[in-house]
Amino acid sequence: MDYTYDADNRIRKMFLMSDIMSKKTVCDIGCGKQQAKPILKELNPAAEYVGFDLYDHCPDTIVCDFNNSDYPPPQSNCQSETLTLLSGVLEYIYTRKLRRFISFIASISDACVLSYVHSDVRGSKGKIWVNDLSQIDILRLFRRAGFRLSAQCLHTMRDGTLLHGGGGCLYYFEKLHRWQKRHSLWRAMRLWL
Ligand SMILES: C[S@@+](CC[C@H](N)C(=O)[O-])C[C@H]1O[C@@H](n2cnc3c(N)ncnc32)[C@H](O)[C@@H]1O
Repeated sequence: MDYTYDADNRIRKMFLMSDIMSKKTVCDIGCGKQQAKPILKELNPAAEYVGFDLYDHCPDTIVCDFNNSDYPPPQSNCQSETLTLLSGVLEYIYTRKLRRFISFIASISDACVLSYVHSDVRGSKGKIWVNDLSQIDILRLFRRAGFRLSAQCLHTMRDGTLLHGGGGCLYYFEKLHRWQKRHSLWRAMRLWL
């Protein structure tokens, strides 16, 4: 599987499902060679782009290891109307580091779009992936950090085939604001009574 072949198609889809025109900033975590930057400039030229990665493939990438303790300091331009893009990177974060990683995302952005390949659907785990999450695990992780699921779809390649036999999924999460939390609580109580 050539991951780079599909990156453009995947990132474009992820931006389109996350209402990209309304965003002021995009934090691209695990940005690699910043393939997302020209796509963002095409879809929303006014949005600011910030790339983070383990390697400085591009000079303006903020270098950090999300499996280690060298998290970047808070970005002043992030938080409100900021989207975090996790394209092909969540599979590389150690299971024990996931909660802290998603908390960091919640601290810099109010929405997050991600791709993930579920090995339970595909049947075998990628050799260099370090976690193995089900759909419920992903929903729980993000819910705990204050996000709720706004959109989800199976990821199809450019030629229409399913990525990894249907294991590839795209998720879009948005932060639950305080009034929405109250509303959810009331709804849960009404169902309970
Ligand atoms: C499969 S590539 C995805 C690149 C790009 N986002 C895309 O969609 O094509 C995974 C990227 O995540 C980065 N990465 C992996 N583990 C990381 C970590 N612990 N901290 C920061 N970046 C990491 C890698 O360096 C690589 O650039």
